[in-house]
Amino acid sequence: MIQFSDVSKFYDNEAALSDITLTIEKGEHIYITGPSGAGKTTLLKLIYAAERPDKGTVSVAGQDTGKLKQGAVPFLRRTIGVVFQDFRLLPNVTVFDNIALALRIHGIDSKEIKENVNDVLASIGMKHKAHEFPRHLSGGEQQMAAIARAIVSKPNVLLADEPTGNLDPGTADTIIKLFREINLRGTTLIIATHHDALFKNTGHRVIYLKEGKIEKETKD
Ligand SMILES: Nc1ncnc2c1ncn2[C@@H]1O[C@H](COP(=O)(O)OP(=O)(O)OP(=O)(O)O)[C@@H](O)[C@H]1O
Ligand SMILES: [Mg+2]
Repeated sequence: MIQFSDVSKFYDNEAALSDITLTIEKGEHIYITGPSGAGKTTLLKLIYAAERPDKGTVSVAGQDTGKLKQGAVPFLRRTIGVVFQDFRLLPNVTVFDNIALALRIHGIDSKEIKENVNDVLASIGMKHKAHEFPRHLSGGEQQMAAIARAIVSKPNVLLADEPTGNLDPGTADTIIKLFREINLRGTTLIIATHHDALFKNTGHRVIYLKEGKIEKETKD
């Protein structure tokens, strides 16, 4: 499903990732961890083709992202939900519309969009914030809205970059349970986090990055 073969990514001649070889199967629930600057976000960016490898190949659903034409990138992204580390909510539209936009690009009719957006907001306890603008939300609420936007279209792959960084432990727990349900319905789930409580003693596969390299892999 997702295959990194000997991948390196450089910024200003410094390797953010070096010689990464990694296969993630369809339906996996996997964690990427490691200290700040280890390359976690860069690894996710290579999956949704926000970055291309400088060396080696990244293949997602059979497509070599390094060879993907710019016009084909939106089609790849339609199958991938992303929770960005910095949320990236559109500031000038409400929470409802931030989430609905992810469905409007799929051409879904407005009644179904309304139902889906309301369902996803209800599942994370955010229905009462539907008509707020992002700037009126707390950091944790913005994170929840970003999570709702990433999951509403039921993507084949969900990439979550530090998705619980702004949440209290109880809310983080709710989100992890929701992710687990989504994964059980077939979505491949890749979570980048420093927060080892998310994967300790879960039995999930964990990739430890250090200075852009895979330091070790465990089943925690
Ligand atoms: N656009 C960029 N331009 C220059 N350097 C970059 C860029 N993006 C990332 N880097 C560098 O690449 C390295 C890896 O960054 P990355 O964001 O992948 O780390 P991370 O593991 O996600 O860290 P954090 O836990 O702080 O989010 C860092 O040294 C960073 O400074
Ligand atoms: Mg990061």
